[in-house]
Amino acid sequence: MIREDTSICIVGTGYVGMASAVGFATLGYRVRGYDILPERIRDLQRGVTPYREAGIDEALRAHLETGSISFHEDLSTAAANADFIILCVGTPASHDGSSDLSHVQAAVAAVERVRKSGSVVVLRSTVPAGTTDVLAAESGIDFVYAPEFLREGTAVSDFLDPDRIVVGASTKEMGERYAALLAALEKPVLVTSYKNAELIKGFSNAFLALKVSFANEVANMCDAVDADAHAVLAGVGHDKRIGTAFLRPGIGFGGPCFEKDVMSLHHTAGVQGVGRELLSATLRVNTNQPKRIVDILEFELGGLSGARIGIWGLAFKAGTDDVRDSLALRMIGDLHGRGAKLTAYDPSVRSLDEGSPCVLAPNELAAIDGADALLVLTEWPQFLDVPPWAIASRLRRRVMVDGRNLFDPDAMADVGLIYRGVGRKPNSGGSNTLAAVS
Ligand SMILES: NC(=O)c1ccc[n+]([C@@H]2O[C@H](COP(=O)([O-])OP(=O)(O)OC[C@H]3O[C@@H](n4cnc5c(N)ncnc54)[C@H](O)[C@@H]3O)[C@@H](O)[C@H]2O)c1
Repeated sequence: MIREDTSICIVGTGYVGMASAVGFATLGYRVRGYDILPERIRDLQRGVTPYREAGIDEALRAHLETGSISFHEDLSTAAANADFIILCVGTPASHDGSSDLSHVQAAVAAVERVRKSGSVVVLRSTVPAGTTDVLAAESGIDFVYAPEFLREGTAVSDFLDPDRIVVGASTKEMGERYAALLAALEKPVLVTSYKNAELIKGFSNAFLALKVSFANEVANMCDAVDADAHAVLAGVGHDKRIGTAFLRPGIGFGGPCFEKDVMSLHHTAGVQGVGRELLSATLRVNTNQPKRIVDILEFELGGLSGARIGIWGLAFKAGTDDVRDSLALRMIGDLHGRGAKLTAYDPSVRSLDEGSPCVLAPNELAAIDGADALLVLTEWPQFLDVPPWAIASRLRRRVMVDGRNLFDPDAMADVGLIYRGVGRKPNSGGSNTLAAVS
């Protein structure tokens, strides 16, 4: 049943905007969506989302049918009678690492012109500390700042099942007004100041990114001393004070959030003149890690000039088609620069930028047919359905570098592959189960 007492306008129908739109509609609210891209709105009106995200297409079509969601090409129709206007526009990185706030500023200016008095304007985009205070002072709007913590690939379920709801507000009452929208989720709510909420979002991502870089340093040490990074990190992470989440070595963190959010904090720390050694190190390790994986491949092949490399995975993570700031694309540039010839397959990527040195293949085996080596760059579980013998039989030089530690090293060695994971080789003495560690 649609609740007629409260209506919500979502401004910006990208990953966060659509997860929020579908999430609020699932909670029973009437939702109207607006985006500056009219073609995106027309697609959404037909039930077509612009990206791959588990469960979102079905949920969207169901809500379109009941009328709980609608999409509009003009903001005045979408926002005119809304009780809450929720801004979910992008905040990409500028050249100097700071957050580009131009989309947020444009959205605020547009909303100022059309909103009804008494509507609550909620900013959900990730912004640097102090941004909401400045926006509030410039516009006179009593904002709520409610950062989003969802992960692409599980965006709608994350929206509906958050660990906590963080709300930055000028007063406790304003914060609680927004939090009341999500009361049915029965999650812990933290109402705090704008700056605290902005920093909770930024430092949450920075800590997760730090864990990834930490795991990669562990893996590189394990490689050097012939230990198994999965076993080591399982043993470290099972200490409750540390935790296993995100202690996974690989090619590093890519995608539209972690790197830009750490860069933005790094920029703010520079402006404020405060220490930023951990932020710098997190970024530096993450810049070096993809190069290190390419170095491993180069070492195993004895050079990359003229080598044919089959790549599995382009999206920045499994479950999404998002290639924004995907490290796979950077690694393709590096491989090309070192003279390799590249063919790639990703189940969710249908095209690459014009001029890309990489050719797309229609499936896993076509990507590696006659290649010298296989390089795994996204942890799509369906890659595991390809039998190891089928991989080995197609690779001329039988080299496999698994940048996501997706495969079992020993099973790959058993079919004659020269397997290199990140911090793990065949028979390097480990498994990732705690039983094997203890
Ligand atoms: N993607 C994630 O996993 C994620 C998770 C948590 C937080 N965030 C943060 O949420 C924000 C949005 O991220 P996203 O990934 O959804 O971005 P996105 O690029 O997928 O979507 C942004 C949308 O806003 C639209 N837009 C831009 N300017 C507009 C305007 N003036 N009026 C209306 N629409 C406008 C764009 O056309 C686009 O459709 C960012 O600040 C991001 O850092 C993202």
